[in-house]
Amino acid sequence: MNPTINPSILSANFCNIEKDIKILEKNSITSIHIDVMDGNFVPNIAFGIDQIRAIREITEMKFDIHLMINDPDKFIERFVDAGADNITVHAEACPHLYRTIELIKKYGVSVGIALNPATSIESLRYLYKLIDKVLIMTVEPGFGGQNFIEEMKNKLKDLVTIKEKYNYNFSIQVDGGISKDNVEEIVKLGVTDVVIGSSIFKNNEIEKNLKEIYSALKM
Ligand code: DX5
Ligand code: ZN
Repeated sequence: MNPTINPSILSANFCNIEKDIKILEKNSITSIHIDVMDGNFVPNIAFGIDQIRAIREITEMKFDIHLMINDPDKFIERFVDAGADNITVHAEACPHLYRTIELIKKYGVSVGIALNPATSIESLRYLYKLIDKVLIMTVEPGFGGQNFIEEMKNKLKDLVTIKEKYNYNFSIQVDGGISKDNVEEIVKLGVTDVVIGSSIFKNNEIEKNLKEIYSALKM
């Protein structure tokens, strides 16, 4: 089955985001990845609730919200209200992760848990049944355009092994450093959802870049 391609609009043209979104829609994209950064959990600041609400008004695409913020619980309701379809929080940012998962589910959106490169998948061992998505960060979160961390392939293999062994339902998403050159290899490991930022928006050639990615995946 083809993986979901989730363009990260962190690399879109912020002066004309509507144009970029329409190009994505025309090229078979059905979901966009929106990075929220608080300048605290990660050393960068991006996308606030009102910006997400404004984008919700111009597209029907699914919103995959990646919260790189400390203590996300107090904002979940507002992100749902702004148009989230999925909310992913970082395990490292949630001292009471079970409670956070329950809170997100209460609002009827899907829930993902992100792991920084140094965080072991073992931290999710007792949560796998509760969640819809595991996001394996393949760069340190905070910025687009970084290099894929090769060791994360072993982490992905370990996660796929567990998913298959216990027949879990969660999807496996990767985020960071994915391009037409490595996407096929990564999807073949068992990844079902791929976030791609700079490689989709680079040189303002979204259509061409996407076609190259689809062709690498034989989609
Ligand atoms: C990084 C963000 C990513 C970022 C990926 O912290 O979570 O979503 O936009 O960008 P690329 O694909 O350029 O590595
Ligand atoms: Zn992201």
